[in-house]
Amino acid sequence: MEGVTASAPGKCILFGEHAVVYGQPAVAVAIEQRISVRIEVLGSDSESWRIDGMQFNSNRHPHVQALRNRMWQPKQGAPNLSIQITGDIPPASGLGSSAALSVAASAALRTARGRWFNTQEGQQPTDWAEGYSSQLEPNGIYSLEDKEFDLFRKGPSGKAVRYVNGKEVLDLDESALLGHAVEAAAQGGRASPMDASTCAHGGIVLLSDKVEPDEEYLYSRHLKMPDGDRVWHLHCIELPPAHQEVFLVIGNTGIHAPTAHQVAKVALALEENPERKKEIETIGLIARRGIQSLKKGDYEAVGRAMSENQIMLQGLGVSCPELETLIRAAAPTSYGAKLTGAGGGGCMVALTSNPKQTSEAIELAGGRTLISRFGNVGLTVDDAGNLPLWATEQNTASQ
Ligand code: PMV
Repeated sequence: MEGVTASAPGKCILFGEHAVVYGQPAVAVAIEQRISVRIEVLGSDSESWRIDGMQFNSNRHPHVQALRNRMWQPKQGAPNLSIQITGDIPPASGLGSSAALSVAASAALRTARGRWFNTQEGQQPTDWAEGYSSQLEPNGIYSLEDKEFDLFRKGPSGKAVRYVNGKEVLDLDESALLGHAVEAAAQGGRASPMDASTCAHGGIVLLSDKVEPDEEYLYSRHLKMPDGDRVWHLHCIELPPAHQEVFLVIGNTGIHAPTAHQVAKVALALEENPERKKEIETIGLIARRGIQSLKKGDYEAVGRAMSENQIMLQGLGVSCPELETLIRAAAPTSYGAKLTGAGGGGCMVALTSNPKQTSEAIELAGGRTLISRFGNVGLTVDDAGNLPLWATEQNTASQ
């Protein structure tokens, strides 16, 4: 059957959660576990989209709804779609399942509809006539209103002259930008770009409030949040030496603690005692040291930095007894362990060369485990046949 399948990995945070909210650096790695999204066009007699065989409900799938508004508007004649979502990232556990879904779905939609470029025949198609990019003003892409968007976004030369579809129109920046925008829309305007960018680019991603001169710069993201404007600078970190020999063992407490609640808890603690800002700065220092150790492949030092980071997170009040139990269980067989994500439940991560032993210890202590190496690929289009599934009227009229 005609359709497109795209997939993206989940993520876990090695250093810097919570402190990143206050401008300190944070590092996330793409994990082996992925979400895969397949889209197929439904017959013209279908009345609505379908997800996993059920009628599409925008309240249940706000990310998909936000992407539909931005990329596949019914009012422009886009056909109804059937979407199948599969994968092995546990939902709502801080491992980036919703970002992976959003990034993979945006890639599937882009691949399925293709893209117009400004570039003349025979030249490299780098200049877009439609789409979203950190090079172009995102014009309301982050808007919280559930409005339909103008998809025909002219590039600097203003002419759409060449149409391309299929895997080659995939753009990691666009998918990460869309992924972040729809995450922010679904979370009431608050979302850091860490999840979407790590799911899109894979590997290891560093976020900072400044451009880091020693790292490979990707782009910057700007977001108006309810409590002020925010800017993040994103970078890729090269895979460390001997990374095949170490493993991340993730232990899930099974407890759900909403990120917003945890972030608010830290904000309150800082408001009550501004002196505690020092703790946030200490997490930043630990993260910077951890990043240097990671780049050298000194995993013992990386593990130590993770455990120190955990002590600071505990002090901030975002750990919980269940996380502590799993972290303690992992300690004897790992270089270091800490919570990953917002805390209060969710997951911990241990860095180890003995994944089996560490995993068994965490399971015995009551956690559900996942094992992942470093160096996982980001977003991929895995299957694309008989394209485009849809191209807009405007787009087919070359100017
Ligand atoms: O639980 P997650 O994966 O959404 O991570 C939250 C990370 C925080 O630093 C606590 C919040 C943020 O926006 O960066």
